Amino acid sequence: MFKIATEIIENEINKTNDLKNCLNRICKFLNEKIEGYDWVGFYFHNEKNKELELVAFSGIPTLHTKIPFGKGICGKSALTNNPIVVDDVSKEYNYIECNIDVKSEIVVPLFDNEKNIGQIDVDSNNLNQFTKIDLNFLKKINEMISEKFLK
Ligand code: SME
Repeated sequence: MFKIATEIIENEINKTNDLKNCLNRICKFLNEKIEGYDWVGFYFHNEKNKELELVAFSGIPTLHTKIPFGKGICGKSALTNNPIVVDDVSKEYNYIECNIDVKSEIVVPLFDNEKNIGQIDVDSNNLNQFTKIDLNFLKKINEMISEKFLK
């Protein structure tokens, strides 16, 4: 399933030279076709303001279109440069709630060469949704985006 999804996303990436359009299409595909991916978005770093800015998403609109570095799971990943998987958001002290139905979350940084310039964020309405398979899948998507648009 993830192999086919990776191929479909690779095709989407090859089809367009418009980064924002491409990110929105990826969000829509993941949100609609992958079970348990109930909100999908890309945040990019604004280094000047030291915050994340939402650039594309699919799912219920969030109020958190800007997140300071360090705040929430997204802000923590922006500072540490590491992916974060939260199995149960109710147990996470540094969590920003976007939607009351969300139970678990994964954030995977997007690198331009070695530099962390953004992230993909996926929320699920199921507990323990995300495994190493999701992590590798989302890493691969970010690598493909980086390869096409950021090199
Ligand atoms: N829950 C995130 C905020 C972003 S929303 O999930 C869309 C966090 O704690 O950083």
